[in-house]
Amino acid sequence: MNSINKTNEFVFQTYLRRGKAFVRGEGSTLIDEEGKAYTDFLAGIAVCNLGHCHPKITRAIENQAKTLVHVSNLFYTAPQADLAAALVEKSFADRAFFANSGAEANEAAIKLARRYFQSKGNKNRYRIITMEQSFHGRTMATLSATGQDKIKEGFAPLLQGFVHVPFNDIDALRQALDETVCAVMMEPIQGEGGVIPADPSYLAKVRTLCDETGTLLIFDEIQTGMGRCGTLFAHELYGVTPDIMTLAKALANGIPIGAMVATKDAAKGFDFGSHATTFGGTPLATAAALEVVKIISDKDFLEAVNEKGDYFRQKLTELKEKHSMILDVRGRGLLVGMEIDIDKVKDKDAGFFVANCFKKGFIINGIQDKILRFAPPLIIEKTEIDGLVAVLDSLF
Ligand SMILES: Cc1ncc(COP(=O)(O)O)c(C=O)c1O
Repeated sequence: MNSINKTNEFVFQTYLRRGKAFVRGEGSTLIDEEGKAYTDFLAGIAVCNLGHCHPKITRAIENQAKTLVHVSNLFYTAPQADLAAALVEKSFADRAFFANSGAEANEAAIKLARRYFQSKGNKNRYRIITMEQSFHGRTMATLSATGQDKIKEGFAPLLQGFVHVPFNDIDALRQALDETVCAVMMEPIQGEGGVIPADPSYLAKVRTLCDETGTLLIFDEIQTGMGRCGTLFAHELYGVTPDIMTLAKALANGIPIGAMVATKDAAKGFDFGSHATTFGGTPLATAAALEVVKIISDKDFLEAVNEKGDYFRQKLTELKEKHSMILDVRGRGLLVGMEIDIDKVKDKDAGFFVANCFKKGFIINGIQDKILRFAPPLIIEKTEIDGLVAVLDSLF
């Protein structure tokens, strides 16, 4: 049995996979079992931001694997301390809590927001406002926070206390924000929702509303963080800082890790014993993440991300001018979405483009049938962008 048949036989059938097994990756290229090369415009869903098997990350993992992999959070380790210090230095935050995935980082943020008020005796302030079309994870609490009904089907009853309001609608938020709300939780740019950026004036007003009502503001930067949008964290583009931010995905370039960082004040919601996880912040994951933070926070690196992102969106905009089936090109940095009019040409939905790009050696992703999402490694070359754009051009 080959690995495709074995997977189909023995792994839970929760993922619709493409019919190839990958055996190797280097930079922006993935190689399948038959030796065919693919240019990766998905990076493991915005995870391998430095490309596959980046030599410096591989070295950091290798060195740490030979030295110390895990000791638990009952003890101190240098990589965890150094990563926390680096995240604090590079952000608005004063403290970090480490987890193992995006959903867990968001769970930590949800728990922190509730406990922040409950530990002060304010037991009625527990509701969390999130956005329609948002995505915050698949655990019960993060599923409850998520603003997409489809993925909640069959899991009722979900957790109480989550309210969803339309994204980019400040009046809806103002109306929902009463004295029972402990936090507003949102992605500065919705990823799974279709690559939808917050309007700059909206985000500034969200901050103001939170300040006026003493509500905590949580930014889920699990997809948008780590240079993806051309700044280390996407909220820097807006000049608006949250009280709590969650990270995961690209933080260790593929080694599982999640992080919740918070201001000194918000961090007061947790004290000894109030939250924990066995694997959170292992020396292995944090050593890899430390190297990632060093590389991505470099000014020239981020400038190159912006330049390539502008180039990519310009090329896609040129396609839009040529093909009326393209309705919109959007995004920031190298998180790019292209919306297509699926009613216009029969059978040419997102799946059609994903499958045909794959056949031609390009990995892209489709969301909600009508949006193509591109999240290449941030080291992608302009020639590789040109290659994909030419293939897309031929498919309309
Ligand atoms: C914005 C956002 N939050 C949370 C998550 C959940 O992360 P994970 O799959 O690591 O649990 C994702 C994953 O796609 C995400 O994009």
